[in-house]
Amino acid sequence: MTACIVVTGRVPEPALELLREAGELDAHMQETTLPVDELHAAIAGADAVITLLNDQVDDAFLDAAGPQLRIVANAAVGYNNIDVAACAARGVLVTNTPGVLTDATADIAMALILMVTRRLGEGERVIRSRTQWRWHMHYMLGTGLQGKKLGIVGLGQIGTATARRARAFGMEIIYSGRRRADEELEAELGATFFGFDDLLGTSDVVSLHCPLTPETHHLITPERLAQMRSDAYLVNTTRGPVVDEGALAEALRDGVIKGAGLDVFEHEPDVYPALLELENVVLIPHLGSATIETRTAMAVLAARNAAAVLSGDQPLTPVTL
Ligand code: DGY
Repeated sequence: MTACIVVTGRVPEPALELLREAGELDAHMQETTLPVDELHAAIAGADAVITLLNDQVDDAFLDAAGPQLRIVANAAVGYNNIDVAACAARGVLVTNTPGVLTDATADIAMALILMVTRRLGEGERVIRSRTQWRWHMHYMLGTGLQGKKLGIVGLGQIGTATARRARAFGMEIIYSGRRRADEELEAELGATFFGFDDLLGTSDVVSLHCPLTPETHHLITPERLAQMRSDAYLVNTTRGPVVDEGALAEALRDGVIKGAGLDVFEHEPDVYPALLELENVVLIPHLGSATIETRTAMAVLAARNAAAVLSGDQPLTPVTL
């Protein structure tokens, strides 16, 4: 019997081509996330579902799909939208898309570091608002990166790629995480392992690269912000809920830290209103993987995972419990 493959939102054509060869394709071509009731109706009877990062894959999703479902292939590296244990309990495989978005996301982390430390958002707002300005010695001074410490929280693929970029800008790398990196990587990056508290108190820039899990939800609390230096910056390109956004807005307003750069938000697409009023925060709309090449590679990898499982092979990039 031909397998039924559902894609929950518009993905690049090369992925659809692959999926057409793997089964009967039901591709939903809207750009936005399907409302839950429409999502559940769409996946009924599917053998494979290609999900996007806002689709909630939980027991209700699995009930709606039915017992024939074999794989949920998330077209994202983050899979906090998926209840992996619930999938495993029903024998449904879960895959994500590591690797293919590493460089694009690290580029954005580095861009945010530059934007916030050199006040590029502020500068652009001056020009666009036609505000009068004149060059002078003390006009809109930022902070140089050379010789400064970048604290990477989570030295995985994206954290490592960000560290490599930061090294090229003359930054010194310190990192924290659940475990130490191997010696070779530490040597390549000149990186030093720190406890999380020490990293917060030492870094000139803290860049978050840990996945969103129950343990990392609100990892950055008011107390943690207070541990940071008052001249330090926070950059978040992982998932919004890793940071208590209300607390961050207060810390930025009160000078607890100097600035922040955010690509992700706690209640995306909404942004905590107080952040919008602040000059010392750069806000961009979840653009980490947003290049034509990267989004195509993500969708193609998700499609290849689905196709592999439907043809009885192992998925290329499984998520394990
Ligand atoms: C991911 O893949 O998790 C990214 O956030 C997408 O931009």
